[in-house]
Order: sequence, then structure tokens, then C-alpha cells
Amino acid sequence: MKCDVLTLFPDIFTAYLNESIIKRARAKNLLDVKLYNIRDFSSDPHRTVDDYPFGGGAGMVLKPEPIFRAMDLLNEDGMQRKVILLTPQGRPFNQASAEDYSKEKKRFVFICGRYEGIDERVKTLVDEEVSIGDYVLTGGELAALVIIDAVTRLIPGVLGDERSIEDESFSWGLLDYPHYTRPREFRGLSVPHVLLSGNHKEIEYWRRKQALKKTVKVRPDIIKKMELTELDKKILSEIDAYDEDA
Ligand code: ADE
Repeated sequence: MKCDVLTLFPDIFTAYLNESIIKRARAKNLLDVKLYNIRDFSSDPHRTVDDYPFGGGAGMVLKPEPIFRAMDLLNEDGMQRKVILLTPQGRPFNQASAEDYSKEKKRFVFICGRYEGIDERVKTLVDEEVSIGDYVLTGGELAALVIIDAVTRLIPGVLGDERSIEDESFSWGLLDYPHYTRPREFRGLSVPHVLLSGNHKEIEYWRRKQALKKTVKVRPDIIKKMELTELDKKILSEIDAYDEDA
């Protein structure tokens, strides 16, 4: 994934991009992030980036000029770009979007809004408005990081063990099953017996059942939308909380 980020707070990104898997992905050139401070593109002596809203009302609005100027600079290299505006008014981001983005050949631009809003004319530069959830953050920076993180871990070579992607909750559709490591016994809490049995078929069955149980309890909407296998239906019939007619 290659991306340019337009933000008023580039420092928000540096700590996160310099740790763990994301740091390694950057070192291996599997992730390239360039940060641009929108304020550097302001043309007035006070480096102003916001102004009062036409029509009145509370809060300030991000001015269009610095963002247009930043985009002009990015476009000088002639590269194809997909421009994403982070906003709570956007299309919801989910695992399917992360998978699509991980296959995208174009360079991304993430425009992070702040203040009460962004001048509507900026949207003429934008391909997609994206939200990471139904809540309002103080700016788009965390949303851009969430997207960069979710997409980066899907890029081949980023995670050590490619199986962990195949295995995990959202590619299954279900929420994840419980995980345990040593010790077998901890403060009176023991590891479920089946996981110590070495019987891979039974372990797989137990994990599927636990995943179904958790999903029925926490996200019944996922179960309703899923195509259940015959085995899933059998397992679900053993789970009390599941009511087929609900
Ligand atoms: N900016 C503020 N809130 C946001 C959200 N939920 N998603 C994306 N960008 C945002």
C-alpha cells in the first residue's frame, strides 16, 4: 500500500507508523506513507487553515485552498491516485473494503478533516468519503490509521504466518474462537480439555462451535446474513441461545 496523508497533525501518525508490524512493513517497502501538513500549503502569512462558516453557526470550517494546493503538488508526479476523505458522513469501512484496498494499484491519498467540517468544494477532489464507524472523532487521523493498519496486514508478506489471515474471524464471517497458551492452569482457570487432546477434528469442531456461540450472542446480525453450512446448522441447534425463528 502506498499513500499520502494530508493532515494538520502529522505527529499523530509517527508513533504508530514506527512500531511493530507496521514499522516492519514500511522497512520492507510493503507500506509507503508520506505525511503532508496541510498548514504548509496555506498561502497567508498566519498559515491559517480554517475560517468561519458562511451562513453562520458554531465552529470553524477547513478552507479549500491549502488542500487544493497540496493536491496540486501531489499531482505533479502524474501518478494515478485514489483520494479518500475521512468523515463520519462517509461510506462505512469494513473488512471487505480493507481487502479491496489491499489489491488497489493506485496510490492512496487520505484527507483528514478537523474542526466542524471541511469546505464542500474539497469533495470535487475526492473519489470516496469513508467513515470508520457511527461515532464522531475529533478528526480523520485515527480513521486514516485504522484503514492503513487494516489494509497493511492483508498485504502478502506483512504478517509472518499467512494462515492467520485465512483463519481469522472476519474472513470466516464469524467472530473469533477463544485462544489459550501456557500455562495449562492459571489462578484456578484451566485450558479447555479438547485443546490438549491432539485431536484436530475435535479441536476444529470445538472452535467452530465457540465462534458460532460468540457470534450468536454478540452479533446475531452476522449469523442472519451468513450462508451457514449443514455442519453450522447442526452446531447451532446444540446452542441454546440460538432461536432459528428470531
Ligand atoms: N472523522 C471524524 N469522525 C470520523 C469517523 N467516524 N470516521 C472517519 N472520519 C472521521
